[in-house]
Amino acid sequence: MKIISNIQDLRDQLRGQNRVAFVPTMGNLHEGHLSLMRLARQHGDPVVASIFVNRLQFGPNEDFDKYPRTFEADVAKLEKEGVYILFAPEEKDLYPEPQEYRIEPPHNLGDILEGEFRPGFFKGVCTVVLKLFSCVQPQAAVFGKKDYQQLMVIRRMCQQLALPVDIVPAETVRADDGLALSSRNGYLSSSERAEAIQLIQTLKQVQSEVLDQWQKAGFGAKDIAAIEAQAQEYLRGRGWKPDYVAIRKRRDLLSASDSELAQQEALVVLAAAKLGNTRLIDNLEI
Ligand code: PAF
Repeated sequence: MKIISNIQDLRDQLRGQNRVAFVPTMGNLHEGHLSLMRLARQHGDPVVASIFVNRLQFGPNEDFDKYPRTFEADVAKLEKEGVYILFAPEEKDLYPEPQEYRIEPPHNLGDILEGEFRPGFFKGVCTVVLKLFSCVQPQAAVFGKKDYQQLMVIRRMCQQLALPVDIVPAETVRADDGLALSSRNGYLSSSERAEAIQLIQTLKQVQSEVLDQWQKAGFGAKDIAAIEAQAQEYLRGRGWKPDYVAIRKRRDLLSASDSELAQQEALVVLAAAKLGNTRLIDNLEI
């Protein structure tokens, strides 16, 4: 595997390659990331991965400085997956001057859910992803469904800017007990780790309540709001601090109206909640 930090070196190395499959990451790689590499291999050749902890997507009180950086271990894992190039720029390589041009997602997608609680997050994500796409020029790029809203934001960005990149969604990889794999799980104490599975348990409970009640006459937006409130209350009662548990339409992540619910609109439940100092997110399609 070639490890490249400089944009020009990357371009030289990839010249003539028009089937590149790309997996952008922030490192601290776990089995979830490795599953993205394997999926990438089915969508192009060669596979290029990147590791870059992108300052632009972290808020002032977030964990940019303490975000886990495990470069040597990451390299060993990518070697095993047969990744051809690891693009691992330093900040001076990717942002040699202040990044004044930024990509702003539309308010109704970028400022809801994660965007409401992490202002500027998706602007930072879109800006770095577009820049990485410009460096790597992939034919396909893989993003995990664990970051459901991020996947949608990137897909829409590609559509609106006519970027010739096929965005490939990857299923969430979970531990045996159901917890979605995430670099932030490493922040959990052992008692928090045991409690953490309550997040997916809560989402499963929401999923089954919606499916149960859906058939009943008059099931509508007020019932959805009650199920969301009950789920948040449950988590609060166990010591979590939920930012949201939200049942939304899969196609645009907005709330479903009574008539959309009556027509069995495809839904997803998304949640973000803090356990101790660690903020976890997860989602489940309904
Ligand atoms: O999902 C992530 O790890 C990051 O948001 C991404 C897509 C690599 C952009 O920094």
